[in-house]
Amino acid sequence: MSVIPGPLLYEGKAKRVFASDREDVVLVEFKNDATAFNALKREQLEDKGRLNCQISARLFELLEREGIPTHYLGLLDETWMAVQRVEVIPLEVVLRNVATGSLCKQTPIPAGTSLEPALLDVYYKDDSLGDPLLTEARLELLQLVTRERHREMETLARRVNAALIPFFQGLELQLVDFKLELGCNGQGELLVADEISPDTCRLWDLRTQDPQARILDKDRFRQDLGGVIEAYGEVCKRVQGACPNPRNYR
Ligand code: TMP
Ligand code: ASP
Repeated sequence: MSVIPGPLLYEGKAKRVFASDREDVVLVEFKNDATAFNALKREQLEDKGRLNCQISARLFELLEREGIPTHYLGLLDETWMAVQRVEVIPLEVVLRNVATGSLCKQTPIPAGTSLEPALLDVYYKDDSLGDPLLTEARLELLQLVTRERHREMETLARRVNAALIPFFQGLELQLVDFKLELGCNGQGELLVADEISPDTCRLWDLRTQDPQARILDKDRFRQDLGGVIEAYGEVCKRVQGACPNPRNYR
């Protein structure tokens, strides 16, 4: 790598973030650790880091082509990418196109209900609190972001959804829901940060109707369905087919 890795800045459940010799650039290593239910369930899945890194890189590039700013700068190797240093806003923005998961556990909305417009849920990112769902009023009370920044975050998240739905549709994948993390760079610009991968999206294979076989995301791990890496590999294969040459960071 031409960029020189510096000290470890942060280690999360699925990634490590390192400083670099460039002030505004940090290096992200995607790990093979899989966790669910706030890390109560934990496993090493050989190759997961590479698959999520490769998928994320291409999805970030797709967003950029749509004019959506992201922290992504380029790949360094199979499991590492360079990204802009951002201050991550401790909120998780979830967009739901089809009702499933926690929405159906917490409300009587039947699983499979199509949600148009997509439902946007905001969670407070704090493992010790179990990432609670926030109301608009609680979000205001927390004063993490101004009202304008909050609106900007929602607009950006909906633009991401609008870009990803047809892209995945073209790969015969249905984007059921996904989680985004957003951050601000040194210039105060709002960017899509973190990752976009089968760890953070629900993706259903449109080539089958079978309710279990169609699951190509982390739900396979959460629900002990097996074939997690095969599913991520299938997503990666289709995404790579559409975007064969991601850029390298120099
Ligand atoms: P949920 O239905 O469990 O609330 O999940 C909604 C979406 O958010 C789904 O695509 C999985 C993703 N997600 C994460 O990326 N991280 C998390 O910690 C959780 C709970 C969900
Ligand atoms: N990301 C969370 C965890 O690692 C939960 C999940 O994705 O289901 O525990």
